[in-house]
Amino acid sequence: MTAKIYVANWKMNVPARESIEQYIGHLKKFRVPANTHIIIAPPFPYLPLVARLIKKSRLEIAAQNVHWETEGTFTGEVSAKMLQRFGVHFVIIGHSERRRDFYETDAIINRKLRIVVHTRLTPILCIGETAAQRKRGETRKIILTQLRRALQGIRNPRVIIAYEPVWAIGTGINAQPTQVQQVHVLIRSWLTRKYTKKNTIPILYGGSAAAHNSHSFMQQPDIDGLLVGGASLSSQQFRNIIQT
Ligand code: PGA
Repeated sequence: MTAKIYVANWKMNVPARESIEQYIGHLKKFRVPANTHIIIAPPFPYLPLVARLIKKSRLEIAAQNVHWETEGTFTGEVSAKMLQRFGVHFVIIGHSERRRDFYETDAIINRKLRIVVHTRLTPILCIGETAAQRKRGETRKIILTQLRRALQGIRNPRVIIAYEPVWAIGTGINAQPTQVQQVHVLIRSWLTRKYTKKNTIPILYGGSAAAHNSHSFMQQPDIDGLLVGGASLSSQQFRNIIQT
């Protein structure tokens, strides 16, 4: 059985109505079901605090970004080795906000994936089409191109994929669960061909996921979890998403 994974992507925010201590304390009281991962992705400066707070719990942490080199003259950047030292096990790579606002190309994303896999961290690779691309009927082409380019030369299938249609992120517009399921089947069959017949690579959905819709997404056979932005900024809402 593929693990269920819920990621709280705080982006450049911290929870507004509670302290980070309260947030983590609230989640720690929750009995995490077997074979389920709950991963918190705070901004870089909060990683050591969150790492300390989640000790002796089943919670895990992710970074939201990483550089493709191990060290060097890269002002403002953070390496995978540094993240590893702070107890980070997962790294979000290729989020559409980084592709759009920081000009990250598939080639850059591929370099980041390589270093993350090499450092034995698990990348959470985000892929997804824009509204215009979907309208033009290019979803399939875009998804397969992003997958192929990002995973070029990556032999170790210890990755997590997050399908995040750009038009559903932060907009309150949900993709339909059946629409998402179709894309996940496409992703899964591509991964099965590339890696292993018994494909256990988790495929998450992200885009305005919230407590009122998480159940309908999680009922789809090929949706293994959720990458949650806005709704993860409240521990109560994030818990509700996992519980439903
Ligand atoms: P959202 O963000 O849940 O606020 O739409 C999801 C994401 O960007 O990962």
